[in-house]
Amino acid sequence: MILSSSIGKKLGMALTGLLLFGFLLAHLSGNFLLLKGDGGATFNAYSEFLVGHPLLIPVEFILLGIFLLHIVLAISVARDNRRARPVGYRVSASVGGRSVSSRTMIYSGLTTLIFVAVHLKTFKYADHAGDSLYGLVVTTFTSELYVGGYAVAMVLLGFHLWHAFQSAFQTLGLHARPRLRGLSIGLCILIAGGFAMIPLAIYLGK
Ligand code: HEM
Repeated sequence: MILSSSIGKKLGMALTGLLLFGFLLAHLSGNFLLLKGDGGATFNAYSEFLVGHPLLIPVEFILLGIFLLHIVLAISVARDNRRARPVGYRVSASVGGRSVSSRTMIYSGLTTLIFVAVHLKTFKYADHAGDSLYGLVVTTFTSELYVGGYAVAMVLLGFHLWHAFQSAFQTLGLHARPRLRGLSIGLCILIAGGFAMIPLAIYLGK
């Protein structure tokens, strides 16, 4: 099976990562409605439209499947790498293309996983009877702890995405293209900066 070979696993990671990135772009565009300044009317209408949509549950299952596959492949690739290099590097300086974000990939991935779990508990599975989703988001971001926590989590997510792009380009043989590199860095800054800016804007606008 293609996913059991080393290149198959890396291709699988690149593809699932790209699909997750697509989700982030869509999620970020929806979240920008929080800043429309209409007391949350458009954001609430948008979220009610999504919640009532018959395709929501199937899409959520597909998203969960992609997320789990991405994690399983990441663990498998990390294991293969350790097996191929059982002693590990004595020197931790950046050598042979191993950048700081490359070595910290597993940590930025883990913090993103923890972030998603806390995030779903805060917004998706929160008990907010009597309050709209917009109300819940705005109340949450009156707390410095949440605003600061989101900012830190988004910096780590930005590093994760940035390295993920470099890795995927390497796998696909596209790493020598400076324009693609520039575009990917721009997109990572957009995602991390956009997601970190929303809680801050809500906090300061209060
Ligand atoms: C400013 C930052 C963010 C805000 C304000 C925000 C807001 C929300 C809200 C309100 C929901 C609940 C939607 C509903 O129940 O209808 C949600 C769901 C979700 N968010 Fe975020 N989000 C942010 C960043 C992120 C990031 C960075 C990720 C991933 C790394 C993420 C992943 C998710 C996922 C997976 C869901 C569940 C989607 C579903 O099952 O329908 N969010 N978000």
